[in-house]
Amino acid sequence: MVHDMLADLRQSDPDVANAIHGELRRIQSGIELIASENFVSKAVMQANGSVFTNKYSEGTPHKRYYGGNEWVDVVEDLAVERAKKLFGADHVNVQPLSGSPANQAAFFALMEAGDKFMGLSLAHGGHLTHGASVNFSGKLFKAVPYGVSKETELLDYDEIRRIALAEKPKMILSGLTAYPRKLDFKAFKEIADEVGARTMSDVAHIAGLIAAGLHENPCPVTDIVTTTTHKTLRGPRGAIIMCKQEFAEKVDKCVFPFLQGGPHDQTTAAKAVAFGEALKPEFKEYAKQVMKNAKALGDELMARGLRLVTGGTDNHLLLVDLTPKGISGKEAEKALGDVHIYVNKNMIPFDPRKPFDPSGIRVGTPASTTRGFGESEMKVIGECIAAIVEKPGDEAVKEKVKGDVAELCRRFPLYPGMELLS
Ligand SMILES: Cc1ncc(COP(=O)(O)O)c(C=O)c1O
Repeated sequence: MVHDMLADLRQSDPDVANAIHGELRRIQSGIELIASENFVSKAVMQANGSVFTNKYSEGTPHKRYYGGNEWVDVVEDLAVERAKKLFGADHVNVQPLSGSPANQAAFFALMEAGDKFMGLSLAHGGHLTHGASVNFSGKLFKAVPYGVSKETELLDYDEIRRIALAEKPKMILSGLTAYPRKLDFKAFKEIADEVGARTMSDVAHIAGLIAAGLHENPCPVTDIVTTTTHKTLRGPRGAIIMCKQEFAEKVDKCVFPFLQGGPHDQTTAAKAVAFGEALKPEFKEYAKQVMKNAKALGDELMARGLRLVTGGTDNHLLLVDLTPKGISGKEAEKALGDVHIYVNKNMIPFDPRKPFDPSGIRVGTPASTTRGFGESEMKVIGECIAAIVEKPGDEAVKEKVKGDVAELCRRFPLYPGMELLS
């Protein structure tokens, strides 16, 4: 399918075809450790590149503002039913175009503009949409951040409770983008109940782990839960909102007509495929391996003198403090990218440096686990990362690491048959 598409594209638009080919070669011949990325199956990609891209279907299944939606209704019903089964949610809206719009819709379903809410600070592992001053969440709402403890670098639920009692927020948001430990949704709920606040969880990063039963599921205790579908859940770029029945109508109306127009039906079809895959037993094995790999990689990095924020991980990501090695996150991201290992620079809690050149890198295992890497490959990758951050300008080290990366990629081909590695 993808091959055929490229054959047409090469004729009609060689520049774009060339860029797609280049990206395919890049991911095939590099090691993807960006914690928010993954590689979808060919089946998901085929649904995402299907004729559903042509359709308008404003409304909800079987209640549309356009004709000709009988097949869109089929895929949207499938996506909703499968998501309900995966997460045990009362109600699911599968139309949000991505994580940020899903969070906007959830905010407006729970609050009015100007209301106060609490979220994990961006500098301590939260997302932009959890209250950053440059984002809608910080501009349209009054954001009161909470952070991690300076001593343990862990969420301190007593401190979160203290802030909640003092601030009396309308909503308390749990969720992470760079926090390597588990979240206690019941503790958030108890604090919220004490101050009469509503609860929201953004599980974008950990949705795959939740679906596999490896992380506490917020759906039973949280009013509204959002997640992107393209991270550990291994679906197309997009998002869903799950909620208790009492919020169903509000959530649906906040997605359409408040925030969005027509849903992207090709993405809905791809979400349905991905949720179907996540319901299979193999997905549980995959998610288990993601976590084992993160632990193995973290152990290797620590054995080689790197410091992990919180001293380790119990999810799919590691936050590496590079301070002991005298290299910044920006320099490390570039040096690792040069040897085809992809990570992103990241602030660490209480970072003395600036966001564009912070002290850390964030490293995650969802994509490399999809490729088939296990713990022994993570050990090699840990050695490679440590060698590069130790001596980023050393040509001999770079050549050795490039060779190790190429060998791993050769042994674990990505999208075999789509294009051959040269
Ligand atoms: C926790 C969390 N929420 C929301 C988002 C935003 O998702 P998107 O980039 O799809 O808008 C992200 C993206 O990384 C995220 O990590």
